[in-house]
Amino acid sequence: MKKRILTGITTTGTPHIGNYIGAIRPALEMPKDKDESFFFLADYHSLIKNKDSDDIKQSVEDIALAWLSCGLDPQKSYFYRQSDVPEILELSWILNCVTAKGLMNRAHAYKAATALNTNDPDKGINMGLFSYPILMAADILMFDSTHVPVGSDQIQHLEMTRDIAARFNHLYKPLLTIPEPIIEDKEKVVLGLDGRKMSKSYGNVIPLLDDEKKLKKSIMKIVTNSLEPGEPKDSNDCTVFDLYKNFTDKEKITEFQNHYDEGISWGDAKEILFNVINEELMPIRAKYNELVKDKDYINDVLRDGSNKARVIAKQKINEIREVIGITNIS
Ligand code: TRP
Repeated sequence: MKKRILTGITTTGTPHIGNYIGAIRPALEMPKDKDESFFFLADYHSLIKNKDSDDIKQSVEDIALAWLSCGLDPQKSYFYRQSDVPEILELSWILNCVTAKGLMNRAHAYKAATALNTNDPDKGINMGLFSYPILMAADILMFDSTHVPVGSDQIQHLEMTRDIAARFNHLYKPLLTIPEPIIEDKEKVVLGLDGRKMSKSYGNVIPLLDDEKKLKKSIMKIVTNSLEPGEPKDSNDCTVFDLYKNFTDKEKITEFQNHYDEGISWGDAKEILFNVINEELMPIRAKYNELVKDKDYINDVLRDGSNKARVIAKQKINEIREVIGITNIS
């Protein structure tokens, strides 16, 4: 069966190697020849948390350039900004009207936000956060996606998408495709400089597109223990070792393990880590440096991408409007 794979990237911050290992690299490796792939920048999702307009603009550009530099081929896939396909927002409203409020009350992200409040449970919570899963359902259902790769934190959102689609299909006609989640490997939690999960909010990231010098500086900052050179080192719970595993093969990992047993110095271990990461990132960085020079490039790619996506979205929204009784006036 031909798969239609779709995934969205929330546009916040600049991409780091945690995003690369956990999301970008696996997503780009997934589509097989006959599959269709949809990668989009979820800029309306980012609006829920981010009210800084410059930040949003910058982030869209950085993230788009990162995906393109990592090998996303805009000719072979659909690559667009969510906000450039207004049919998605139209569908989102329609889905709002078939979604039970009780379903949204149970969303983890919303519940976690209310749990942080003491007196007024709704303090600081906007309706965007509350209905976030419905916009996500619209992203997915708009294009009859069959497979949606997501991190394990998004499983509930996928279940909600399936519920919402089934509800629509039951109330009207079975027009919406029920998507399958593809849950990414749980092992893929990438550790940051301080040993916690790599995350912009912890300030412990290694940026993906830094130059070689800065990359090396970041890697040298990884927190280790104070074992001296010559003392055997434990590769469990070791950020340097964990990162290394993501950039090499079995044989090299065994070799690195032997160095640990023999008491390699932390400086030397980090040097080896730097070399493997740098080798993989070198062509990506080169592509980035080339693309970033052309001011119109991102704009052109995203314009073409949304034009292509809208051909499908327009047809679908017309079918949907037809069955709900809001037909286009000719
Ligand atoms: N919510 C997803 C995240 O934070 C991003 C996203 C938005 C998405 N719409 C989507 C992912 C549709 C998959 C499909 O990671």
